[in-house]
Amino acid sequence: EAKVFTYDPGFLSTASCRSTITYIDGEKGELLYRGYPIEQLAEQCSFLEVAYLLKKGELPKADELAKFERDVMQHTMLHDQMNHFFRGFRRDAHPMAVMVGVVGALSAFYHDVMDFSDQEHRDLSFIRLIAKMPTIVAMAYKYNIGHPFMYPRNDLGYTANFLHMMFGTPCEKYEPNPVLVRAMDVIFTLHADHEQNASTSTVRLAGSSGANPFACISAGIACLWGPAHGGANEACLRMLEEIGDVSRVGEYIKRAKDKSDPFKLMGFGHRVYKNYDPRAKLMRKICHEVLGELGLENDRLFKLAMALEKIALEDEYFVEKKLYPNVDFYSGIVQRAIGIPTSMFTCIFALARAVGWFVQWEEMITDPEYKIGRPRQLYVGSPRRDVVPMSER
Ligand code: SDX
Repeated sequence: EAKVFTYDPGFLSTASCRSTITYIDGEKGELLYRGYPIEQLAEQCSFLEVAYLLKKGELPKADELAKFERDVMQHTMLHDQMNHFFRGFRRDAHPMAVMVGVVGALSAFYHDVMDFSDQEHRDLSFIRLIAKMPTIVAMAYKYNIGHPFMYPRNDLGYTANFLHMMFGTPCEKYEPNPVLVRAMDVIFTLHADHEQNASTSTVRLAGSSGANPFACISAGIACLWGPAHGGANEACLRMLEEIGDVSRVGEYIKRAKDKSDPFKLMGFGHRVYKNYDPRAKLMRKICHEVLGELGLENDRLFKLAMALEKIALEDEYFVEKKLYPNVDFYSGIVQRAIGIPTSMFTCIFALARAVGWFVQWEEMITDPEYKIGRPRQLYVGSPRRDVVPMSER
């Protein structure tokens, strides 16, 4: 019975809950955060502005945004003991394994704000989470490559500081390229929330037992890691590397259509979008801007991706099944151009989606009607039978 949107009965039967956060129209390829189109937010707002919108439900005024940015930047450092936590991992541990562990461990450091019936505790936890995600992602990267951790620089903006922690070193001054900063900031916005996707469902279900948001979001990170979900950007880039040349695209399109072959075209298709994912269009635009800025207009993989997209979108199987590029199709190419290694792509996704996970969790636990999630199963196993003694088995 939503006030502004009409739903067909079929949809209502699949909806798990009411929400005021994100609206997706899969047929039209429309995505709204708190009613604002993703295209306008990506074009006109910063990621922190969008984070404020998702949390508070309204875009901030200038002074509100300035205070929010200050509050976030005041919490960018991790508790120093967490540095040891990283050192418990092998250097070659997948960064998403580190993210699952370290984000979950945040719940061990913030007992002072663990009364989540208190709005102020929830607000401070939100600030702490989104402030520390860039630091954790950058530390996971630095640990993986054997570089020293870079402390946050609060004089830089949120996203410029992230690139500084990722690519700066103590040996020389690092000033992030403003075009790359803006591109990264938009990539964060495009990944901030997406209604009831698999990882958000995980966070909501975990939170429905009363578990704290850091632990729930750690579960969400684990779910996001899968190649059918957030891991698709990493899988898509590896697929493009494997295809290697436009001459081999037909072979992979054929494999994607072959039901006996488990291969899926990574970065294509979506549970909800049966039209072009609006985020994929914006991601392709960012790709052009970043590659242009870096003089990489003839980037081999970008050209291959565009050729693959063109061929797939003209193929009757993909047209009939309504399979279009999704947010993950171009994101790997642009992140690689910015200098982010493939293994870190899904960590970037998690960094941004932490905003959506938290606000979705908060919407659930503040809903007076919420109860612990307890989906039932349709049992189709053995009928009732008696145990047979070992001697007679
Ligand atoms: C994300 O839920 C979200 O919102 C997720 C996300 C977010 O922001 O949180 O948007 C992020 O996870 C995007 C999706 C990233 N994953 C990938 O790019 C992996 C490749 N895509 C596929 O795994 C697949 O498209 C899924 C898992 C995303 C959706 O699969 P479904 O549910 O099977 O999709 P569908 O029902 O629309 O498929 C229709 C048909 C099926 O064949 P039939 O059973 O009808 O014969 O198309 C086939 C599918 O098998 N199909 C594909 C395909 N995707 C679907 N065939 C080849 N290549 C593909 N990529």
